[in-house]
Amino acid sequence: MKTYTVLLTGLGHVGLNFLRILRQKEPVLTRQYGLALKIIGVADSSGILTDPDGLDLDRVIDHKEQKQGVGTLGQTGISALQLVNDTAADFLLDATPSDLRTGQPGLDLARLALSQGKHVVLASKSPLVHAYGELAALSRPAAQLRFSGAVCGAMPTVNVGRRDLPAAAITRIEAILNSTTQVILTLMAQGSSYESALVEAQRLGVAEPDPSLDVDGWDTANKLVIVANAVLNIPARLDDVVVRGIRSVEPHGEQWALLGLIERVGEGYRLSVEPVRLPSDHPLARLGKDEMGIVYTTDIYGQIAVTSAKQGPAGASAGMLRDVIDIHHTSQSS
Ligand SMILES: NC(=O)c1ccc[n+]([C@@H]2O[C@H](COP(=O)([O-])OP(=O)(O)OC[C@H]3O[C@@H](n4cnc5c(N)ncnc54)[C@H](OP(=O)(O)O)[C@@H]3O)[C@@H](O)[C@H]2O)c1
Repeated sequence: MKTYTVLLTGLGHVGLNFLRILRQKEPVLTRQYGLALKIIGVADSSGILTDPDGLDLDRVIDHKEQKQGVGTLGQTGISALQLVNDTAADFLLDATPSDLRTGQPGLDLARLALSQGKHVVLASKSPLVHAYGELAALSRPAAQLRFSGAVCGAMPTVNVGRRDLPAAAITRIEAILNSTTQVILTLMAQGSSYESALVEAQRLGVAEPDPSLDVDGWDTANKLVIVANAVLNIPARLDDVVVRGIRSVEPHGEQWALLGLIERVGEGYRLSVEPVRLPSDHPLARLGKDEMGIVYTTDIYGQIAVTSAKQGPAGASAGMLRDVIDIHHTSQSS
């Protein structure tokens, strides 16, 4: 039985759900994988809570469900970065917000933890969009980086491309990576105007009050940059993506999709995010309004499609657990 000590930064939808999933899956982890996780420190925007013997997770979950900061149980005014700096642990799991302009706070947390020799599992996208190459270079057997929950949560968007297509030449990657636009475009195909579909998506809680990150294509572009870096090993940046959102789509009763596309052009790749009408026999054309998907076109494996029903934050939390188990496997076999 291997017990890992863990720090968890961010206790919102994803972080808190991770703790709930962990409570639920503890017996499976022990029985099936010979693995136990001891959460010895957590942080939110209010401060930190630590216990070297392992925190009482039910108490943490209860406290956060009552909208209380963990600082009031532990120490206020201490940052997540200080927690990581001052606490020896095997893992940092990060579920802090993604500031797409700066990559913070996850970027500094990941840099520090990897350089200290901690394994890092990110739910947050922005550190990867800003500094994929730097973080990947810090990743090594003793301090591994994983982020399978960061790009579409439970869907193994990146894992399939990285692990299951060895030696392939990947000529094309097509993906529907944003659920908000998928909902809006489906409602528009059923006759709604863009404006009323957006209002409905906001009423359903799938679109933000300010929907621009989703509808203007930037959420998809961020995810596409991570896929390009992680799967194709190209140093793509957000500036490299041609981005057009869905505001001006006129579907005339047809199903459109906001498609993230990476296509091989000569020796390089072209990255774009644009609304398109997919042919009816395209693997992504049959996706419902709550689904996302990615299609890899390769030389030796043909076309591989992965789809997933949107699961909300719990999918990203499950992705974090998947990454922890994967690192456990890798560490055991090395
Ligand atoms: N939600 C999803 O479906 C989903 C899917 C895939 C990936 N992600 C990514 O996962 C991450 C978390 O998403 P979420 O939906 O859980 O966000 P959230 O509900 O807003 O939770 C963010 C958490 O981070 C804490 N926090 C904020 N600033 C902090 C700081 N400087 N130091 C330490 N903690 C800080 C917040 O503290 P308080 O509790 O005190 O406010 C909160 O607990 C994001 O990067 C997001 O992009 C989310």
